[in-house]
Amino acid sequence: MPTTHRTQRRSVLIVLVLFAAAATAFAQTPLIANIHARQITDLSGTWSTIIDAYHVGERNRFYEDRHQTDPSELIEYNFDHSPTLKVPGDWNSQRPELFLYEGTLWYRRIFSYHPAQGKRQFVYFGAANYHATVYLNAQKLGEHSGGYTPFNFEVTGKLKDGENLLVVEVDDRRSKDAIPALNTDWWNYGGLTREVSLVEVPSAFIENYFIQLAKGSPNEIAGWVQLNSAAGGSEVTIEIPEAKLRQSAKADEHGRAAFRFPAQLTPWSPDNPKLYEVRISSGTDHLTDQIGFRTIEARGTKLYLNGKPIFLRGISIHEEAPFRGGRAFASEDDKTLLGWAKELGCNYVRLAHYPHHESMVREAERMGILVWSEIPVYWDIDWKNPDSLAQARQQLHEEIARDQNRAAIILWSIANETPIDPDRLEFLKALASDVRSLDNTRLLTAALNRTGREGKTRLIDDPLGAVVDVLAINEYIGWYESRVEDADTTEWKSSWEKPLLFSEFGGGAPYGRHGATNERWTEEYQANLYRHQLTMLRKIPALAGLSPWVLMDFHSPVRLLPGVQDMRNRKGLVSDQGQRKQAFYVLQEYYREMGAH
Ligand code: GCU
Repeated sequence: MPTTHRTQRRSVLIVLVLFAAAATAFAQTPLIANIHARQITDLSGTWSTIIDAYHVGERNRFYEDRHQTDPSELIEYNFDHSPTLKVPGDWNSQRPELFLYEGTLWYRRIFSYHPAQGKRQFVYFGAANYHATVYLNAQKLGEHSGGYTPFNFEVTGKLKDGENLLVVEVDDRRSKDAIPALNTDWWNYGGLTREVSLVEVPSAFIENYFIQLAKGSPNEIAGWVQLNSAAGGSEVTIEIPEAKLRQSAKADEHGRAAFRFPAQLTPWSPDNPKLYEVRISSGTDHLTDQIGFRTIEARGTKLYLNGKPIFLRGISIHEEAPFRGGRAFASEDDKTLLGWAKELGCNYVRLAHYPHHESMVREAERMGILVWSEIPVYWDIDWKNPDSLAQARQQLHEEIARDQNRAAIILWSIANETPIDPDRLEFLKALASDVRSLDNTRLLTAALNRTGREGKTRLIDDPLGAVVDVLAINEYIGWYESRVEDADTTEWKSSWEKPLLFSEFGGGAPYGRHGATNERWTEEYQANLYRHQLTMLRKIPALAGLSPWVLMDFHSPVRLLPGVQDMRNRKGLVSDQGQRKQAFYVLQEYYREMGAH
């Protein structure tokens, strides 16, 4: 082969190798599931931070955390002399100057570590809103976009035995092509909003697993275990000691071991949230998880849990911390919010509008509360943009990878109030197809947009209704349209014989503001609206459940009425200080009537 051709061939090869290496270096490593069952070093605590409003940090190499040694040296930053933030936690609610800040902020954490020989280490983030760039010991590990799902990077061989430097740049600027995009009715809390941990695993380890009842089969477990770096043919074992179950299977060449075996288990349900200890092992890796087993099906217009009809007595919840405000992340937040839901008589919550932190889902499961989980494909998205679709798919994959073993989750939602449009439908059909291939045991839903009216009849005929398993409608009769009492005579007509959820309705009132029932912004108006809504709902045969908007008042940059909203959405049944409004008791009474005890 002439020299020039050989040289050309070699240079093409070099470019391809470099590209592949770069892609590998910056690609997030596959998500490690159930990290709390792992050997972890929690990096929560006080981190030094630099507000980088003009995005100069990368150019100035903040990630090197340099200190002046030579008196002539020019360094225009210093983490040691900069303010701090608690991690986990959004930046907005920690420092007044950051309350309305949207931009870039750098975090630094120095920690000592002694990597065990023969083990692998990963740095794991519960979430970072919105775009994170992660550096370890001044080397870039990679980047992640998406504000509400976990990600991790392998750091094996990059950790020093001793002191290590972890620097993270977080940029929470909203953008047209992001998920969510520019406009949301919730606060854009930025930063390292959830936990950061170092995870240590064997060289060949259990990366993820799906262990649930087979679709529609209460007496069979079907699923898989995904190994990382294990040889094909490696043995994987699943044990459920309490049920005297032990099954083994061989991993294929991709490290995936599939299972399907008979299992007589006590089903998980709101009345009996039974969880089993499940032990998964392969080679030198062993981990346990607490897993519930149940079936969920849509038959006609009814939902069936474990083969019995169930009505979802729900409430919508934003991930806002009671009392202190800011992004919720702690178990006391979960217990407070879900405790209020239980007090209402709920057996179900809609965790809006994005995947909440993992402990919230696990707490709901322990308390016997069913869950609607959703990704923030919310209002206007850049439907034609392949990057937006890729981002939505990535968030969906991360959400399901993290929570696919949580029996409490019965609904994956792919959209909220998105405009009816052909590009939007194609975008959402792609997400629907992902959900069904990743997890065919749960039901697919979305908060639809309704279109037409025939006199007093509202038509549920959003074409997305043909795609989902369960229809869901947000409606605001008496708040954004019509009069409160018009609900009494409003009927609903669906184009499909599917279960129907009312995923939102409500009205706003600051706690303690009183007046006549026709005076907007009073508790009396809100309670009256609920009464009329419930009159309407009682007459809908296909109604399978509801999750009124919203459990607790929450911060929103678009709620600006002074003395009433003060940058909070006031549709909560509970104030941000835990005070129950009159409408709380109206809904509670309805749920008692619907079977709450
Ligand atoms: C919409 C939207 C919510 C919003 C609510 C409201 O339906 O889904 O995110 O907060 O209405 O206007 O209060």
